[in-house]
Amino acid sequence: MTDAQPVTLTQLKNRAEDIRAELSLDQSSPEELNSKYLGKKGKFNDLAQVIRHVSAEDRKGAGQILNELKLALEKQIAKITVEQDVAPGWTDMTVPGLQPKSGHVHPVSQAMEEVTRIFERIGFTRVRYPEVDWDHYVFEALNMPPNHPARDEWETFFVDAPIDHKFGKVVLTTHTSNGQVREMERLGSTPPIRMINIARCYRRQQDATHTQMFHQFEGLVVDKGINIQNLKGTLDYFAQEFYGPGTKSRIRPFHFQFTEPSFEVDFSCHICDGTGLVDGKDDAGKASKVKCKFCKSGWHEVGGAGMVHPNVLKAGGIDPDVYTGFAFGWGVERTYTLKPGLNIDDIRLFYSGEMRFLEQF
Ligand code: PHE
Repeated sequence: MTDAQPVTLTQLKNRAEDIRAELSLDQSSPEELNSKYLGKKGKFNDLAQVIRHVSAEDRKGAGQILNELKLALEKQIAKITVEQDVAPGWTDMTVPGLQPKSGHVHPVSQAMEEVTRIFERIGFTRVRYPEVDWDHYVFEALNMPPNHPARDEWETFFVDAPIDHKFGKVVLTTHTSNGQVREMERLGSTPPIRMINIARCYRRQQDATHTQMFHQFEGLVVDKGINIQNLKGTLDYFAQEFYGPGTKSRIRPFHFQFTEPSFEVDFSCHICDGTGLVDGKDDAGKASKVKCKFCKSGWHEVGGAGMVHPNVLKAGGIDPDVYTGFAFGWGVERTYTLKPGLNIDDIRLFYSGEMRFLEQF
């Protein structure tokens, strides 16, 4: 190839292939290979001289072929070097294999699965509704007309999007209650309804017990003759299934615009069994009952609930004189951190991407 004839790209390519094939069969030591192929007087440099005999328009292509060859040779020699280092001429077939790292489902996803299974067992259907939704479903249909002060409780992110004349502004859902009227509409305003809606929610808040993005699950039951006992029974059932036998639920009067009456829901603390007291020592070091540090009062507040407000049923096209219903909703992360055996005091850890934390689940 060193005669006066111009060298074609095909010829150059073939020669490059030959050199690679030679290397793959070469049994020399890595040092020898280095000098033989990549050294000053090595095969690569030898071939590179040829570029002088390549026509002007082929120069670029030739450069590319040479570059690729050089990289391939370097890579191959590096590989041989490592292999010879690790296995000097023999292989121990009895060495145990390296266990590949396997991932697993994120703890919050595990919790959502568990919540879904628990409610499915008593006839609820899991649904999902938009996480970017109209003001109508998030507030207005839930008995919160525009400018109603109750809206302030939900520290809302508004989306910079055109306002719909019927549905209003676009917001990031502040709670899963947006699913209530959507579910009534999906079922053509015809109960029975037994919905469990789990979705992401967003609020302008951030501290050890709040993240701007979190998850809620929402239960909604509408039928003839539904009353508070049905709600309480459902809460007790969930408490025992999720937290273990013996866990009790408690409802306390509260206020939400979309339920009447409204409640806050607590679950009994599994550390002190709802008493607020555990065995400990008093200041003098004598054995005595002391305040439970986990709950302080015997109970953990988890979320809200209530009987569906007649105006909400109406917004979903359901006659409140015929049907009644209950609803409840609260945070997946918070509910999960209260599980026996888990002692997670900062829910931001769930979204930290911190593997040492996540690998524990
Ligand atoms: N959506 C309420 C909240 O986020 C909780 C709730 C749901 C209350 C259903 C009553 C009924 O705080």
